[in-house]
Amino acid sequence: MEKIPYEEILKIQRKVNIVDIIAEYLPLEKKGKNYFAVCPFHDDHNPSMSISPEKQIYTCFVCGASGNVFNFVMNYEHITFSEAIAKVAAKIGIDFATNSSFKTIKKDDRYDKYYNMFSVTNKYYQNNIKTIYGKKATDYLSKRNITEEEINEFGIGLSLNDNNVSKLLLSKGYDKNDIMLLGLCGDSGGFTYDTFKNRIMFPLFDTEGKVVGFSGRIYNNEKESKYVNSKESPVFKKGKLLYNFHRALNYAREKKQIIVVEGFMDVIRLYTIGIKNVVATMGTAVTKEQAALIRRLSKNVVLCFDGDKAGEKATISALEELERIGLEPKVIRLEDNMDPDEYVLKKAKAGFDSHLKNAMTALQFKLEQGRKKTDFNDYNEISKYLNSVAKELEKIDDPIVYELTIKKLSKETGVEFDTINKLISSIPKKEVKQKKEPKVYKKNKYEMAEEYLVHYMLRSKDAILLYKDKVSYLTNKTLALIALKILDFYEQNNYVNATDFSLYLQDDDELIKEVLRIDSINIPSNVSKEVILDYINTIDEGILKREIKNTKDKIRGETNVAKKVVLLEKLATLKKKECK
Ligand code: UTP
Ligand code: MN
Repeated sequence: MEKIPYEEILKIQRKVNIVDIIAEYLPLEKKGKNYFAVCPFHDDHNPSMSISPEKQIYTCFVCGASGNVFNFVMNYEHITFSEAIAKVAAKIGIDFATNSSFKTIKKDDRYDKYYNMFSVTNKYYQNNIKTIYGKKATDYLSKRNITEEEINEFGIGLSLNDNNVSKLLLSKGYDKNDIMLLGLCGDSGGFTYDTFKNRIMFPLFDTEGKVVGFSGRIYNNEKESKYVNSKESPVFKKGKLLYNFHRALNYAREKKQIIVVEGFMDVIRLYTIGIKNVVATMGTAVTKEQAALIRRLSKNVVLCFDGDKAGEKATISALEELERIGLEPKVIRLEDNMDPDEYVLKKAKAGFDSHLKNAMTALQFKLEQGRKKTDFNDYNEISKYLNSVAKELEKIDDPIVYELTIKKLSKETGVEFDTINKLISSIPKKEVKQKKEPKVYKKNKYEMAEEYLVHYMLRSKDAILLYKDKVSYLTNKTLALIALKILDFYEQNNYVNATDFSLYLQDDDELIKEVLRIDSINIPSNVSKEVILDYINTIDEGILKREIKNTKDKIRGETNVAKKVVLLEKLATLKKKECK
């Protein structure tokens, strides 16, 4: 990678606040001076990542991930360092690629062509629905209580019974293969035809709000399948996106909650009653990627899938996927097999709000589910019921919740408290992952001295100059490299601090992590030259000890007498030095 001038990086970094940027990706909690978030870089269940507004650095105290604002965006979005800079710059209205004196930074424009093709197509569909040909479609939507406002907000359009999308895109010079790749047209013996015909078109957006596909709904032909989706393409992976993610982001943050529904009709309906912190899975079981996206929106998740059997199944599997990444979603089950769209139409906002207020915990949901299935006059069924929920009950940590739940179950089934209690204790404990005590490797005083010296080099000119004058080398290769780079940095910029130095290291994540670890060692921040010299003496002593040991090893293995003599002489000199 070509290096980006440090000054350019610094200019952008000075204008942003890492807290604001990370808050766009993760819910943050303020504790004292710092902010905390559930770490996105390991399977975190508690907020283990701290963000320091003072240092403009994030650090996870579990997995050790650490860096500056650009490192965060780079690692979170899996993009390159220069892309991360451009992205952060764009957030504050700076076009880094053109504004920078450093012209060679390239935006990732591989897929721009595809985004443009979808955008052109979407505009065309949107226009169709406003013409005379769109009358039937808007009538249909209006019958479903979807007005012009929603049509505009969600970019709803219409595909006609022609091949105009292909024609339009070809006339704009796009390649037929590309149009086919995106699933917008097909080929039949050389004839190019549009894939979507006679459907109400819902554009599907990626996490940034770019159109990457469509879902088309029938409205005047009941025989065909209800929805047809764009086929997967380099920019469209159905299982990796959530409908309405980009619009829901800010609302979810505001409300500190995200509601997850199945269909986009449900999203649109909830919008009409002012509920905008909502996304849709689009009918598939929640995938790992979607779960991660949901967590990005909020830790407080409410699942509100269709009220039918399929919705119940989807809820169970979504719970599993979300619990796996440390979330504890709540559940709403709507009556009479209704989906949120139908429910709101029937029961209005008040009905939905009341469900929202009384959303169940996963445990309550599972108890209710079992209860519904059970005939309480049939002893075998009662046994089946209790056995099926025992696994869930075993997970309850709170002794009060535990006792109250069992009491209720006891009353409901007529089975004694103790019997249920025993049943629960009899199930094999879910393997509590034995946290292996990491072998704490104790560093010796020479290793410590090297770390301390580098620690002071990150904050003191004296330490840097003493290092330059007096230290021959550091035995720890990583520290040796860091020290050299600090010296470089200092000579170019005439100052040093860990955060700015990390900007200088760009995308060298491992080195940055080590720099920030060394920087955070808890020792007095101001020390005299004498103390630093002491560390340097200790380092020298360590080097000498190592040389002595190496020489001794060599002597032991040496069979050639003449060579052995030379080594013995060397050992004598080293030992003499040691005594000084
Ligand atoms: P639903 O069948 O519940 O659709 O599928 P819906 O939201 O109630 O739609 P309307 O009210 O009948 O118009 C939920 C989601 O599953 C996906 C769509 O994303 C839909 O929003 N789906 C459904 C498909 O992709 N294809 C289908 O044939 C059906
Ligand atoms: Mn519906």
